Amino acid sequence: MSSSPFHPDNLLCKKTQAAESNKNAILGVLKKELSINATVLEIGSGTGQHAATFCSHLPAIKWIPSDLNGGSFESITSWKKVVSADNMESPRLIDAASPDWNIGEVDRISGIVAINVIHISSFDVTLGILNGANKYLNKGGILYFYGPFFQNNVEARESNKAFDQYLRNQNECWGIRTLDDIEVLAKDRSLHLDKIIKMPKNNLSVIFQKNL
Ligand SMILES: C[S@@+](CC[C@H](N)C(=O)[O-])C[C@H]1O[C@@H](n2cnc3c(N)ncnc32)[C@H](O)[C@@H]1O
Repeated sequence: MSSSPFHPDNLLCKKTQAAESNKNAILGVLKKELSINATVLEIGSGTGQHAATFCSHLPAIKWIPSDLNGGSFESITSWKKVVSADNMESPRLIDAASPDWNIGEVDRISGIVAINVIHISSFDVTLGILNGANKYLNKGGILYFYGPFFQNNVEARESNKAFDQYLRNQNECWGIRTLDDIEVLAKDRSLHLDKIIKMPKNNLSVIFQKNL
């Protein structure tokens, strides 16, 4: 599952420091939470680093990367080639905020994953992901969010408050979401909050499960 560092596709594989530093911790959670032969749709795949890492380490899963920005597809497909990930499908152009997602020919989706997406997009995207999970996930399937969250009964860390302000200064529609609000909206969409797992740098892994 690796190739020469001089492979031409390597030059097209984009990297972010954030994805490099969180990918192994997220992999550890997904290894436990995804069923062994899960079909997973990733929303907002960005560079494709996560898709490549997870496909290499979880060879029995089928991973479907996607993004709103088709400009990221070259990097995603280059990562797929570099790690020889036969279990990664070609990326789909999906705007998570839209009511219908271009998932293609897929029988069932047992996982939807969104890493560092919902605080760097409008709240329509959070709602769209919850709607999509209700519409496309199998019963018992999981919706996984990774990122910073506020929680009503947990004192917010200064670093997260500062990050939230920074995001809102970039775009007034962006900002760290409050998990309790998402939980209420999820309940109306047949999703219950299953687990909250503390992650490095004041981030959380949040797992909702589609009701049986
Ligand atoms: C901060 S990046 C995170 C990328 C990747 N998940 C990671 O952690 O490296 C946010 C991603 O969300 C995507 N995105 C923003 N709005 C979106 C939308 N409405 N539907 C789908 N993806 C969206 C962006 O194009 C970008 O790739």
